[in-house]
Amino acid sequence: MKPSAGRRPIYMDHAATTPVDPLAAQAMAGCLTADGVFGNPASAGHAWGDAAAFRVDSARRQVAALANADPAGVIWTSGATESINLAVLGVVRFAMARGRGRHVITARTEHSATLAACAQLEREGARVTYLVPGTDGAIPVQAVLDALRDDTVLVSLMHVNNETGVLHPVRETAAHLAEHPAVFHVDAAQSAAFLSLDVGWGVDLLSLSSHKFYGPKGVGALYVRHRPRLRLQPLMFGGDQEQGMRPGTLAVHQLVGMGEAAALVLQRRDADRWRLDGLTRRLEQGLLDLEGVVINGRAERAPHILNVSFIGVHGESLALALEGIGLSLGSACTSASATASHVLRAMGVADGLALASFRFSLGRWTREEDVDEVLARVATALAEQRRRTTVWADYRSGTPVADLYGTDAGEAAG
Ligand SMILES: Cc1ncc(COP(=O)(O)O)c(C=O)c1O
Repeated sequence: MKPSAGRRPIYMDHAATTPVDPLAAQAMAGCLTADGVFGNPASAGHAWGDAAAFRVDSARRQVAALANADPAGVIWTSGATESINLAVLGVVRFAMARGRGRHVITARTEHSATLAACAQLEREGARVTYLVPGTDGAIPVQAVLDALRDDTVLVSLMHVNNETGVLHPVRETAAHLAEHPAVFHVDAAQSAAFLSLDVGWGVDLLSLSSHKFYGPKGVGALYVRHRPRLRLQPLMFGGDQEQGMRPGTLAVHQLVGMGEAAALVLQRRDADRWRLDGLTRRLEQGLLDLEGVVINGRAERAPHILNVSFIGVHGESLALALEGIGLSLGSACTSASATASHVLRAMGVADGLALASFRFSLGRWTREEDVDEVLARVATALAEQRRRTTVWADYRSGTPVADLYGTDAGEAAG
């Protein structure tokens, strides 16, 4: 990226995407050219096809191992967006076509892939309950259970929220759902790099994205429960690759890259988690010391994400002042629009404050000196910006935050 005014660039947007680990990139490079494994894995019976099929199989095992899953249940996709669409649309359309129910439970804080797929299902006649988080960002397990109906066919929740880092207790939810016929889908795009997951807890469908854990973009996976086999309606039709659930020639280099990245995650997941937890805490404390900083998502969080609102600043002006630091103003997926984040709104954060919110997300190569430098640059930028706003002067003279920003969102449940 372009360094600004002699300052070294610092990337703190790992929740948006991560760089490919050099070992994964090297493995991918070996699957492209004539001297590498470039064959079509569906071309059984000749050496080129067999070599490619062998590499795809081992990548499938590597990815399955992330969630202690049966490799036979792994369906390759183009990323978590496609995995989520296949899971949500596939399960509910299959059930509705057979008159087995049409009710879905999800949350207002989900990724837009889930929310948009649910909106599509509503147009097709499904009923969707959107759970509201508490002001701490968490969705209580009891709220999920209270929303269950006899005709509920799908519960779809994310493991880690991509904007706030707030965790959902997947294991506990799965245990409670065990007695209900509804299928449980978990969007694990943000958690796979740090948190151990086991589909044996009772997770029927799991969405993964390679580029969130140091693999390439454009590839992901959907785990679909294999025993007993869960049936879905495919989104696409064509060849019989991926058991007919996702036809099309497999992109061997992408799958190999994702597989290698998954294997690296398994080797270092716990160490990465504890190291990043320490760094994120350092960042959080340093920001809180700056005064007028609100942490969004006070519930238990993943180690790499910190979302904060800065009182008395205009978000876009602060973002400009922080040029050279890779940060996300709101979520990367919605940063093209200047509307307040749907996640923060659902948590009851007023629009004015939500628009001055930033997500810091740390990664494998973030160092303590990066955190300290970001803190210093934020402190300077805040002091500069706040000199210009009356909101800051009002805050300093004791006006409560609710009066400064109003309570226009106010939808959160307690
Ligand atoms: C929680 C979550 N789900 C789904 C996605 C979509 O993933 P992909 O970019 O692989 O389509 C993202 C990416 O922003 C995410 O953070």
